[in-house]
Amino acid sequence: MGNSITEEMVMKSLKKVIEPELFKDIVTLNMVKDVRVAGKDISLTIVLTTPACPLKSEIQNRVDQAVKGDHPEIDKISINWTSNVTAGKAGGKEDLIPTIKNTIAVSSGKGGVGKSTVTVNLAVALARSGARVGLLDADVYGPNIPMMMGVSKPPVSAGAKLEPAESHQVKFISMAFMVEDDTPIVWRGPMIHGAIQQFLRDVNWGELDYLLVDLPPGTGDAQLSITQLIPLTGAIIVTTPQAVALLDSKRGLGMFQKVHVPLLGIIENMSYFSCPHCHEKTDIFSHGGGKAAAEKLKVPFLGEIPIDPAIREGGDSGMPIVVSNPESPQAKAFVQIASQLAAQISVLNARSSALRIVTV
Ligand SMILES: Nc1ncnc2c1ncn2[C@@H]1O[C@H](COP(=O)(O)OP(=O)(O)OP(=O)(O)O)[C@@H](O)[C@H]1O
Ligand SMILES: [Mg+2]
Repeated sequence: MGNSITEEMVMKSLKKVIEPELFKDIVTLNMVKDVRVAGKDISLTIVLTTPACPLKSEIQNRVDQAVKGDHPEIDKISINWTSNVTAGKAGGKEDLIPTIKNTIAVSSGKGGVGKSTVTVNLAVALARSGARVGLLDADVYGPNIPMMMGVSKPPVSAGAKLEPAESHQVKFISMAFMVEDDTPIVWRGPMIHGAIQQFLRDVNWGELDYLLVDLPPGTGDAQLSITQLIPLTGAIIVTTPQAVALLDSKRGLGMFQKVHVPLLGIIENMSYFSCPHCHEKTDIFSHGGGKAAAEKLKVPFLGEIPIDPAIREGGDSGMPIVVSNPESPQAKAFVQIASQLAAQISVLNARSSALRIVTV
């Protein structure tokens, strides 16, 4: 009696809790809301910078330690988790999509490394974590996102804007929707430019936390013009162990540096084979190159995905493995990488907003 704990006292303890990736305390970061004290129990809301946050349990531990360290008499601390995704876009360009908080380009040094497969699974994993997610299939040469999402046509649009298709909680649009029957088009630069512009400006995306863009493979003119058109938060690179050498080349990364797009990380796909019977891992193409390249290039390594028939079948059947078998180790690899990606985006946005404050 007489010494009851107040909300102010709790806030003071919470000021000692450092967000593990943003390196500032959670009170300064404005992440704490609705602190309530009821006898020996405390409840509070923590607003994360992404619902896919990989560090919830770490934050929970730090809150427990800080508050109970100061006030050992506390019994229970209940945290209500919510999120408000931070926004970030490389400046300079006209923002054709102001309702989209973050736009992430997925690229690869060469074709066939599983870029579209990875993009689809990451998009669906982010959506399943609670984020609002879109997917733009900007691969003019082989747009196959609709097949992988199990939808072949966009809905009929009623208004002035184009309605995106929606599948597995992800809104998406594809170059494939622009092509009548299966006739391949020879794309000329201005056509690509026009199509991408339309996909950004004339599609009814609504509010999105993340828009993932599946770029055509390689780092040529088409990719360059797309990265120049889209106000990007950052880019990720998908590689396979045997394609890693291409990444190392200046050409691979130079494109993003040229247009000042930050690299959010590298993913190694078809990294190893995990035997379904004995679970032994076999490095079919020698694995680990992606991680080594990431270290050398000083870019975050987001993780590795095994080579697995179930992943290919997921793509062929329009039922990505994170939906069809979410408990499988393959799906968990995607979910973990999606979290890492979301965390990198939060870190980048925190850093650039700090920069903005300094420079204003
Ligand atoms: N981890 C994996 N395990 C098994 N098969 C995979 C894996 N990743 C991708 N694949 C398969 O490899 C093939 C190529 O993948 P995908 O189309 O995603 O590559 P891409 O890099 O987008 O190719 P493109 O350059 O043609 O756009 C597909 O059949 C896909 O199902
Ligand atoms: Mg592809």
